[in-house]
Amino acid sequence: MDQINIGMIGGGTVGSGVFHALQQNADLMAARIGLRLGIGKVAVKAFDEPRPYPISPSVLTLNWHEVVEDPAVQVVIELVGGTGIARTMILAALERGKPVVTANKALLSAHGPELFAAARKFGTNLYYEASVAGGIPIIKVVRESLVGNRIDRIYGIVNGTCNYILTRMKREGAAFADVLADAQRLGYAEADPTLDIDGHDAAHKTGILASLAHGFWVNHDDIHVEGIRQLTPLDIRFATQLGYTIKLLGIVKTVPPTGRAGKKPSPAANRISVSVGPTLVPDHHVLASVNDVFNAVFISGSPIGDTLYYGRGAGKDATASAVLSDLADAALDLRHGTPQRVPAFVPHVTKGRVIPLAETSSRFYLRLDVMDRPGVIAKISAILSTGGISISSIIQPEGHEGETVPVILMTHTANRAAMDRCCAAIAKIPAVKGPSRLLPVEDFD
Ligand code: NDP
Ligand code: HSE
Repeated sequence: MDQINIGMIGGGTVGSGVFHALQQNADLMAARIGLRLGIGKVAVKAFDEPRPYPISPSVLTLNWHEVVEDPAVQVVIELVGGTGIARTMILAALERGKPVVTANKALLSAHGPELFAAARKFGTNLYYEASVAGGIPIIKVVRESLVGNRIDRIYGIVNGTCNYILTRMKREGAAFADVLADAQRLGYAEADPTLDIDGHDAAHKTGILASLAHGFWVNHDDIHVEGIRQLTPLDIRFATQLGYTIKLLGIVKTVPPTGRAGKKPSPAANRISVSVGPTLVPDHHVLASVNDVFNAVFISGSPIGDTLYYGRGAGKDATASAVLSDLADAALDLRHGTPQRVPAFVPHVTKGRVIPLAETSSRFYLRLDVMDRPGVIAKISAILSTGGISISSIIQPEGHEGETVPVILMTHTANRAAMDRCCAAIAKIPAVKGPSRLLPVEDFD
């Protein structure tokens, strides 16, 4: 049986997971794909760094060039992370015509088109199944399995760290910092965990899904991003009381064309909204029960209708599964001489555009901290009414101790810019104290 020689750069959480998984399942994979996959070289930064799974010292090197430049290495895996040296490593491999497998969503988000172009130019390919939603094979789903669909809506819980933190905050009332430390210990968080908790990792992944679904590369800067750092136990409690669960949700929606009535919209034009932020999800919706490190991606398309993909979104083993799937594809493409059989990304929309957040609409949850005085609620509702925003429910809990009381308003569907204008006016009412919290409510209509 032919052997495909693999070189890996990075042997940390995911890298050691890949090394271990291949040791466990190389025979199974060989039986399935008719090729033996063997990792002959692994570049790391320090020999004595502790690793979740051991890597044979005989394959380790501290010089990544030895991996990329070794003529015996046919496929390169990049599991270093970040947007600096990882880009140089990948380009160096692609320039040598070597297929590259990566899990690096930050790099794809920042430099995807450049890397895809390099792969095309040098007659090879870039594989990135592990970059979104850990073990869930979502890249293949969006790019290949749903190729015959128009995709209208994507809702993703795509950051395992945040979902783990939110789950434990809701379930145990645990403190944010303690739970984050656990997520780091378990290998879920990025090397820089602010990428997770400030929503940027979820935005990298949501942007990749949006790009694949809509045919133009979505820039990170065009995505409205909010993280979970500002969420308080109070918001989690009130959301629960109202029948909702707060999830960090990546949302991609097609915006209906505004062209002349009866005129068919151009297939090359596509307006979408793309956002990431803490969102109230109704408890009866399936995404509300996606807990711990699990991720889920809900995709609605035509003709398929609603679909759901669920699995572990981070960690050494789940992510290794996605890398192995890419390795099998890369090996088979090498074997059959079909490097561009499934190109990494096919741009096919020339006038695609992400609309600004201000133009989007949703229902809202607004928590205010107010002095318990006559007329305060009347002033707030007058501002909302003038702004054309309709309140669907209001709570002011009894028996709240302290100078101020929380007031929670739920609105009907409203334009975001109008909502922001009302919030700014409400903040000027002298009896409204402290920072307010505005969160979108998603009804999945
Ligand atoms: P780690 O920090 O655990 O591992 C990074 C590895 O890169 C380490 O082995 C490190 O070496 C090595 N490294 C760093 N710099 C160099 C260098 N200059 N030359 C050679 N090796 C180097 O990160 P993860 O495994 O968690 O993440 C890797 C990638 O996978 C990232 O892109 C991440 O976003 C992505 N990812 C991570 C997931 C997860 O659950 N952790 C899930 C999905 C994707 P040393 O060990 O000696 O320090
Ligand atoms: N830090 C990421 C997460 C790893 O928590 O989801 C998986 O991409």
